[in-house]
Amino acid sequence: MKFFIDTANLDQIKEAQDMGILDGVTTNPSLMAKEGITGTDNIMKHYVDICNIVDGDVSAEVISTDFDGMVREGEALAELHDQIVIKLPMIKDGVKACKYFSDRDIKTNVTLVFSPGQALLAAKAGATYVSPFIGRLDDVSTDGLNLIAEIRHIYDNYAFETQILAASVRHTMHVIDCAKLGADVMTGPLKSIVGLLNHPLTDIGLEKFLADYKKGN
Ligand code: G3P
Repeated sequence: MKFFIDTANLDQIKEAQDMGILDGVTTNPSLMAKEGITGTDNIMKHYVDICNIVDGDVSAEVISTDFDGMVREGEALAELHDQIVIKLPMIKDGVKACKYFSDRDIKTNVTLVFSPGQALLAAKAGATYVSPFIGRLDDVSTDGLNLIAEIRHIYDNYAFETQILAASVRHTMHVIDCAKLGADVMTGPLKSIVGLLNHPLTDIGLEKFLADYKKGN
């Protein structure tokens, strides 16, 4: 299972990268705004800064909602760095743009996916990644993890190569459940990654090992 971090915060990206377990980064316009990154030039520069920190794929989202605009923006983003993945919204023109980029071997991430039918369309359009938003489904009393299971089932039926990127992951149990269900990738905040470290028995055990070592020295 690949671990992506879902942030535009360079310090958090560095922290996850330094652990040696980071496979990539996802961003969106809201995450950029949260870091105070505004304006096309600054946003483009920030994508390059992120690519220079991590080794893997970095999703960069288009703002256009029409096919021509998405292609224009996506091509400019793809030029920035070979780690850039074009993130496209799950709308009709987004599906069309996904096919356009996949035909040209440019990686894509179809985002804002909330149903198995949308995931099927993304796979048909040759998406590299499909991003079902599990936390936002949970927010509206719908089982986000069930969507991961449904997409896994459908993709396995037909050996679709599109990778299921569980997005809108909010906490460690989402990560573990996505791993059980066979999501290819998860993207979440830093706390959902480093939180996996925590167990009181580890802390107690380490404390005892160190105390016993000191007794003998
Ligand atoms: O990757 C999608 C993600 O950024 C959405 O997360 O927590 O805003 O629902 P959230």
